[in-house]
Amino acid sequence: MSANELWGGRFAKGPAEIMERINASIDFDRRLYAQDIAGSMAHSSMLMDQGIISKADGEKIQEGLQTILREIEAGNFKTDPALEDIHMHIEARLREIIGDAAGRLHTARSRNDQVATDMRLWVRDTMDHLDGELKDLQDALLFQAEAEAETVMPGFTHLQAAQPVTFGHHMLAYVEMIGRDRSRLKDARARLNECPLGSAALAGTSFPIDREMTAAALGFDRPTANSLDGVSDRDFALEFLSFASICSMHLSRLAEEIVIWSSAQFRFVECSDSFSTGSSIMPQKKNPDAAELIRGKAGRSSGAFNSLLMMMKGLPMTYGKDMQEDKEPVFDAADNLQLCIAAMTGMVRDIKVNGDIMTAASGAGFTTATDLADWLVQKLDMPFRNAHHVTGALVKLAEENNCGLEDLSLEQMQSVEAGIHAGVYEVLGVEKSVASRVSYGGTAPAGVKAQAKRWKDQLAGEK
Ligand code: ARG
Repeated sequence: MSANELWGGRFAKGPAEIMERINASIDFDRRLYAQDIAGSMAHSSMLMDQGIISKADGEKIQEGLQTILREIEAGNFKTDPALEDIHMHIEARLREIIGDAAGRLHTARSRNDQVATDMRLWVRDTMDHLDGELKDLQDALLFQAEAEAETVMPGFTHLQAAQPVTFGHHMLAYVEMIGRDRSRLKDARARLNECPLGSAALAGTSFPIDREMTAAALGFDRPTANSLDGVSDRDFALEFLSFASICSMHLSRLAEEIVIWSSAQFRFVECSDSFSTGSSIMPQKKNPDAAELIRGKAGRSSGAFNSLLMMMKGLPMTYGKDMQEDKEPVFDAADNLQLCIAAMTGMVRDIKVNGDIMTAASGAGFTTATDLADWLVQKLDMPFRNAHHVTGALVKLAEENNCGLEDLSLEQMQSVEAGIHAGVYEVLGVEKSVASRVSYGGTAPAGVKAQAKRWKDQLAGEK
């Protein structure tokens, strides 16, 4: 047995091939081509303006870069793992097209500041894109919130029916969550928006570069202020993945509710056929697969966040090749999140609400018990703790009689608390219960409509 068979039997060319395979990132970082070319365009313009390279060379470089962009977009770009990554591929192709002048592009630059810039640009584009998709999801949720502002459903704690709420109110809870996700994106974007280009390998450069110029050309607010930090910081990617993890968690909770609501035991909603599948063996089944996949994929985002955090945590300053491992988790989380948002938006828009079933279920489990206790406080001036106790006795009585609270006769109620009068029935229906919850942010249909309108106005006001 040769040594090669011991440690690399499957690699025909031995160590050279193993090294090439572990080193190459082109299979995944080719996605950075547009950002890489944009960065090189800005860099070469700056080099020309500063007289660091000649205008003639700079123009050749820029024409070559545009040719490469067209080639890649047309799908005519050959990759070779020996050229490692997208940066070297583009430079090698540039040399083929324009000759030696290509070698001047990398003046006053390193792949370290180059890749840090590319990744920031990619994450920034993705953030902007996802923000728009999340707004569409909010629109879909608001559509349901307005349509079902008066539809009564059981509100749950511990997944036990607690108090009646409206379906519109429930939808608005998710509008708030997605609103926070979007504001997290906005915050992270503002911190991301500094340009590392010009940090060079790690220490800056002796060439008279203009970092303000490249930063502005690439839409950044300013250049990063420390070159060591500039090449080694991946906080922006971590913040993106932290946003993605939280947002995926929100989507997953709604997905789980859709799974529960659409089950034969609940039948609160029906998912459209477009987002469901049948069973290959059980003809009666319609499975909420899209919701289950959204729930399942949430694990990937937080896995991606953890993988990047663990990759970074022991790295000494500055760049380490470990950092090449930042890309796959970011791309995977972004791709899956985008898919999940689109699927959720479609599902929410199409969902059919079985209002009668929801409303019937919302009275089960004595969900108006709190209304009864509140009534005892407000009308009979009872301390809340006593009212709680009296209500408990009434629930027990209803349970013994196998009926709802509203089905107890006045005599039965008075046997527990003599002061109770017929006015009590005013608060015992589930509709009356929700209508009474007029506190700010509460579930009364009037409040739900007002909140839905506030959100619609806010979204319409976004540019
Ligand atoms: N492909 C590399 C990455 O993604 C580019 C930077 C390489 N820098 C270096 N010093 N080897 O991180």
